[in-house]
Amino acid sequence: MEQGLMLSDKPTLLARLQAQPADPLLALIALCNDDPRPGKIDVGVGVYRDAAGNTPILRSVKAAEKILWETQETKAYLGSQGDARFVELIKPIVFGESAIGDDRIVGVQTPGGCGALRLGAELIVRADPNARIYVGTPTWPNHEPLIGEAGVEMVDYPYYSKESRTISFDRMMDALGGARAGDLILLHGCCHNPTGADLDPDQWRAVADLVARNGLIPYVDLAYQGLGNGLEADAQGARLVVEAAEQALVAQSCDKNFGCYRDRLGSLFVKMPSAEGASVVMGNLLALARTMWSMPPDHMAAVVHIILDDEKLRVDWRSELDSMCARIRQLRARLAAFDPRLAYIDGQNGMFSMLPLSPEQVLALRKAHGIYMAGSGRFNVVGLSDDNVDSFAAAVVEQLDG
Ligand code: LMR
Repeated sequence: MEQGLMLSDKPTLLARLQAQPADPLLALIALCNDDPRPGKIDVGVGVYRDAAGNTPILRSVKAAEKILWETQETKAYLGSQGDARFVELIKPIVFGESAIGDDRIVGVQTPGGCGALRLGAELIVRADPNARIYVGTPTWPNHEPLIGEAGVEMVDYPYYSKESRTISFDRMMDALGGARAGDLILLHGCCHNPTGADLDPDQWRAVADLVARNGLIPYVDLAYQGLGNGLEADAQGARLVVEAAEQALVAQSCDKNFGCYRDRLGSLFVKMPSAEGASVVMGNLLALARTMWSMPPDHMAAVVHIILDDEKLRVDWRSELDSMCARIRQLRARLAAFDPRLAYIDGQNGMFSMLPLSPEQVLALRKAHGIYMAGSGRFNVVGLSDDNVDSFAAAVVEQLDG
């Protein structure tokens, strides 16, 4: 055998990869599916369920899909921005009517909120390989891989105490006080994932003041707009901090508020001090998107574009969204009324809440009752159906009683 052809001791390229554990949150879907018990309760991944426990396709989405099927004449490429009209229609939903025509804010369509978060992180690293982002603890577990693995240095700030079930606001502000001009702060626009605990208006104002005073850059994750206290109310905090900042990023998702989870639809917006600066950002976003997914998948953007451009469909979507929001609030109220130790759940927003349970207690709930929730104690409030909310609450209280 020739020298060059001798097998080396080193494993060949792909054989060097390390085995990976399954994503703990997504693994819950399969675990629950495999559980044969009829009374099992899936409160793992954040998807909306109706009173019967189903995740239906919205009426407005079905109607728009029909229109799309009947009228779409080509599937030729649209380009890296995706559906420009979709982006234009989402912009005022996120930033308010005053943002229409504001050239300092540019945006592109992305594959879900995850695509937006990653694209934003790549933009940040491209601008400054030493950029830092302050991230609250706890946060959505996928923030670390999406933003940190792009190369942005992550610095923790305390956000929420699982024991006291409250936001650690003073400690949060102390930590953020240490951020330097040009540092980023990751903020959940509404419906905090995993805790459900959102900043109140005064707290948002205090954060906005700090942003303005210290030249910080908010990076807002807005994945659940409309599912906390309504579409407008849920954007108020994000608008305050974006308004206060010279530069800001907002990663937006339609996956929850249009119920189109697997179709993956979101957008990334960036605000700059001038239209010229924003145009340079836009060029960089397009160039980065081209290297990641080239062009985002079109279907759901085309559907949302149709809904938001059609007065009747838009009104219907709003009423569907409002009823999803109302259902979440009802479930929260029912849980809160069950036991004083669950009362805090009613004061929170969105799909998630965090129970003060250890990983062992979470496992015990799974074994004894077929209840599937994240190891952190996070559960999807709206994973509950009208029939199992009381048995869920009883099982949780049994754990709290020890
Ligand atoms: C969740 O947190 O359950 C959702 O955002 C789904 C996901 O991708 O993790």
